[in-house]
This record gives sequence, C-alpha cells and structure tokens, in this order.
Amino acid sequence: MNAAPRTQDLDHYETASRDEITAMQTERLRWTLNHAHANVAPFRAKCEAKGVHPDDFKELKDLAKFPFAGKEDLRNAYPFGLFAVPMERIVRLHASSGTTGKPTVVGYTQRDIDNWADLVARSIRAAGGRRHHKVHVAYGYGLFTGGLGAHYGAERLGCTVIPFGGGQTERQVQLIQDFEPDIIMVTPSYMLAIAEEMRRQGIDPAGTSLKIGIFGAEPWTNAMRAEIEQVMGIDAVDIYGLSEIMGPGVANECVETKDGPVIWEDHFYPEIINPETGEPVADGEYGELVFTTLTKEALPMVRYRTRDLTRLLPPTARSMRRMDKITGRSDDMLIIRGVNVFPTQVEEIICKAENLSPHYELVLTRQAHLDCLTVRVERAPGTGRMDMGAEASQLQHRIKSFIGITADIEIVEPGGIERSIGKAKRVRDLRPKSA
Ligand code: DLL
Repeated sequence: MNAAPRTQDLDHYETASRDEITAMQTERLRWTLNHAHANVAPFRAKCEAKGVHPDDFKELKDLAKFPFAGKEDLRNAYPFGLFAVPMERIVRLHASSGTTGKPTVVGYTQRDIDNWADLVARSIRAAGGRRHHKVHVAYGYGLFTGGLGAHYGAERLGCTVIPFGGGQTERQVQLIQDFEPDIIMVTPSYMLAIAEEMRRQGIDPAGTSLKIGIFGAEPWTNAMRAEIEQVMGIDAVDIYGLSEIMGPGVANECVETKDGPVIWEDHFYPEIINPETGEPVADGEYGELVFTTLTKEALPMVRYRTRDLTRLLPPTARSMRRMDKITGRSDDMLIIRGVNVFPTQVEEIICKAENLSPHYELVLTRQAHLDCLTVRVERAPGTGRMDMGAEASQLQHRIKSFIGITADIEIVEPGGIERSIGKAKRVRDLRPKSA
C-alpha cells in the first residue's frame, strides 16, 4: 500500500518544471480563448460587452480580464448553445440533473473523451492503481459523468473494470466477494452503506480484497477518510471533478501523500476568487474555485465558477498545484443565527465521536422567527445499552465550541438515517419557503 508510481511511468507534465508548465498553460489558454471566441456566440457577446478580445491575453494574469461563466450560461444556452464544434463532431453527451429547472448538458469530441480517459487513468495511478488491478465502479452510469468517466479511465490504465453502477447494495457486496476487486470507485457516503451491508451479511469489511478506494462527487472530510480507512482497511483517496469542466478526474490525490487533490494543470487552469467581489486571491487563500479548460474542443469553458470553496496549495508529490479538500459549496452554506456553517464541519465532529456512526443529516426548521438546526445522527452499532443522553450533550457541546452554534441533537437507531446510493443529501430544509 501507499505505493508511489515510478517516475518513468508518469506523464510528462506530472514532473515538469514550473516554467515549462507556465509556458504550456499560456499557449493553451490562448488557444481556448480564440477557439471559444470564434465558435461560441454567447462567449463572444460577453467578451464584447466587457470590451476584451483574445488578443488582449499575453500572459497568465491577463485571464482575469475575461468574463466569468456559470451554470446559468449553460442553462441559457440549453441544450447545445455553448458547443464550439458542429454536432457531428460530438460523440457523447452527459447532463447533470440540477435540483431546479433544466439540466446542464455537456458534450465531448472523441479527443475530449480520449483526454478524459487519460486523466482518469492518471488519477487512478496517482491513487495507487496499476494495470493488473480490478476496479469495481459503483458510481452511477448514465447521464451522470461518474460511472462512465471512471470506467473509461480504468480501461485506459489497463485495469479490469467491473461496471456495477450504483444501487443493489446486496449484490454489490456479493460481487466484491466473488470478483475480488482491488479498487473501488464510489461516493464516500455509499461506501459506508456498502460496508454496512457487508457487516449485515457477516462479512468483515476490512477483510475483503479491496486495497484502494477512490472517493468523490461529494464533500467529505479527513475525519471521514480516517473512518473509511479504518472500517474498510484500505487507502481512501480523493477524486474531484465536475461535469461542466469534464467529469471525475479534474484533480486527484496522490496515495503517497494524501494531502489534497493534484489539479491536472495541463488540462485545467485553476484560479481562486473572492466569491463576493470576483477578484482573484493569492495561492493559499480560501475562496471559490474557478476553472478554465485548456484542451476541451466541444465545450471550452472560460473562468467557470464552480461554487466549490477551497484554496490552492503548492506542489508536493507532482509538479502541479493541489487544492485543499473542499469544505463545501457556497450553495451548501447554512447561516444559523448569523453563523456560517458547512455540513462538513459537523461531519468532522461526528466522525471523531466513538459511539456515533458517520450517518447523519442536518434538519433546518424555523421556530418563532429563528432558524433552528437539528443534527440527526445514528448511534454506532453495538452501543445499544449505552446512555445516549450523555453522548448527545457531548456532541452539542463540541458543536457549540468548535462551530459556535447551538444545535438540537437527535441520536437515532442504526439505519435511522436514509442511505444514499450516490451523492448524499446532508441537509433537509423544512423552513417555510416564503420567509
Ligand atoms: O460529481 C463528477 C465526479 C464523479 C467527481 C465522480 C468525482 C467522482 P457533478 O455531478 O457535476 O460531477 O458534480 C460536481 O460535485 O462541483 C463539487 O461540488 C462536488 N464534488 C465532486 N467531487 C468532489 C470531491 C461529479 N472530491 C460537484 N470533494 C462539484 C468534494 C466534490 N466535492
């Protein structure tokens, strides 16, 4: 375990000098700006409104002159209006469901699909995967980018892929037992549900053939990593991505360091901005992650605002910069009586409590014009005879002292919190809509 790949097996830019990376990014950014300007009418219109032209781009810092893009640009151009190539060159579509309104649709040329497979292969290798490994894919297949993205990348690396998809938890467990995969790719919350099903069947989750888990598609904390590694007896590694930019494999953590996903900077140029002012902030400072694609043909994206909150960190195991683990999305931030709270902050505290299990949800209500937060969490299996009153007040106390809010605590029986088969839904907002 914890095996770093041999340097000769890495891609060129994984070990390139910063100067070389900067030169490559400058050239590729110029290409993207020209490509989008020439072929995507809404982007051209936004540039004209801002008085900028791709010729104004001379060096990396000039990117800040260009307009941002967001989910609304994709919605306004629904379904194919931001595609920069004719439809006959599009070989694949994906779409994200979107909680409200129309889905966002993304398209890929054959070259985009090839690059994506290469980057997921690189990601799996960074996680410790090798060509002789069997990979069980439990991300959903279909319009969601998780399943197919993982699948093509694992094949590209030369692995044996088990394309299970999400759901049918009992059968997932059976096939993990029978096919003996080395790697599982799944959301961290669904990994826990699978582990639980193993225990129900009398199987020790730490005793399976699995050695590596590549987890993403939702925020998860280092405390959750520790929990999963202990329960499953594997290395748990973070994979990040979003459909608008590509899908899984925009960034991936290296197993030898586990210090935040390395952004594959030869294909995506990252910026962190102050989410309120839109001004870029320095590396190391927290803010909203923004990406410009460097090689995408079908759907070039310039300064796409991800809404994900993190910071850029210096290179360690590779030459490219890392991102810190995502604390949450700006859309997920709760404001409880004036205090900003992310579900991950509560998760961190829950995962450290021995007698609680990491299955939780946050319920928001309004009482007498005040927002109230109830943390619902399951007691750990095997704590049946314990007094949960003391456990609840301890959790309440920790939340108060670490986050600064008063929360009601409800400790429920194992199985009392609904399990996800994909991205977990951590927040249930029962506040009246009109207020
Ligand atoms: O979730 C792509 C993906 C699939 C990534 C499988 C990793 C593994 P979307 O459905 O478009 O795409 O959702 C993208 O999910 O903006 C983040 O808010 C969140 N997200 C993805 N990966 C991580 C991660 C896929 N490792 C949105 N940590 C992103 C935290 C993540 N959040």
